[in-house]
Amino acid sequence: MSDTFSARLRAASWQDHQAAESQRYVSALVAGELPRQRYTDLVAQHYFIYQVLEEAAEAMRDDPVAGGFVDDRLTRLPALEADLAFLLGPDWAGRISPNLATRRYVARMHEICFTFAPAFVAHHYTRYLGDLSGGLYIGRQVARAYDLTPAGGVAFYHFAGIDDARAYKDAYRARLDALPLDVTAEAALVGEVAVAYRHNTAVLAELGHDGDPKPATPTTPESMESAA
Ligand code: HEM
Repeated sequence: MSDTFSARLRAASWQDHQAAESQRYVSALVAGELPRQRYTDLVAQHYFIYQVLEEAAEAMRDDPVAGGFVDDRLTRLPALEADLAFLLGPDWAGRISPNLATRRYVARMHEICFTFAPAFVAHHYTRYLGDLSGGLYIGRQVARAYDLTPAGGVAFYHFAGIDDARAYKDAYRARLDALPLDVTAEAALVGEVAVAYRHNTAVLAELGHDGDPKPATPTTPESMESAA
């Protein structure tokens, strides 16, 4: 494997990627096993996440290190607003709220992404490169399973102006490789990608808790022994 920063970053974070990708909620969603409302719940969490990420992008637009990653073609907030209006109706804004994991995720971005370029790039990379990879697959599956279209419900997964996701990601990786990072800053970026993945996994895990009541029989030490 070539020893570029982007290759090192990918290798260092792939285990975290698998943890995010293999959340039960994700597999049930792409298999169309959930009611549509449970997809809407994900769109709502994305809304709160991208609100802060894209606010940070504005703050970083002229930053000499992070500014090169800011690209209006990536901006997702208008698409999320359109999807929520389609899925929930014109009063969507009053009908959504961030879950606990999302509140922690956005608090972390508020804490670090507006002032520390490597951390901004880490959060930017984790979301947008994911959206341009597995995200495209998720979008196709969700559209088919829940009968949605880019004009109604899955606009988030369609990037106007980016026709070739592979070429875009190659150029993005070249920008990562050209970052003027010393060893400390590089380690900070890699570490923050791990943090970003953990937050994403936590959001997906919380979405996976479907609010079903607890089983009627409480778990006791005896029942655990007999189950072992
Ligand atoms: C069904 C769920 C998912 C599938 C099937 C999936 C699949 C993939 C695949 C095949 C790639 C490699 C693409 C390439 O090399 O061009 C990739 C890359 C990536 N994915 Fe996912 N993914 C999923 C969920 C996620 C989630 C939840 C996140 C984080 C929010 C994420 C973040 C990323 C990132 C950052 C990359 C770029 C890695 C790199 O090349 O440096 N993915 N994904």
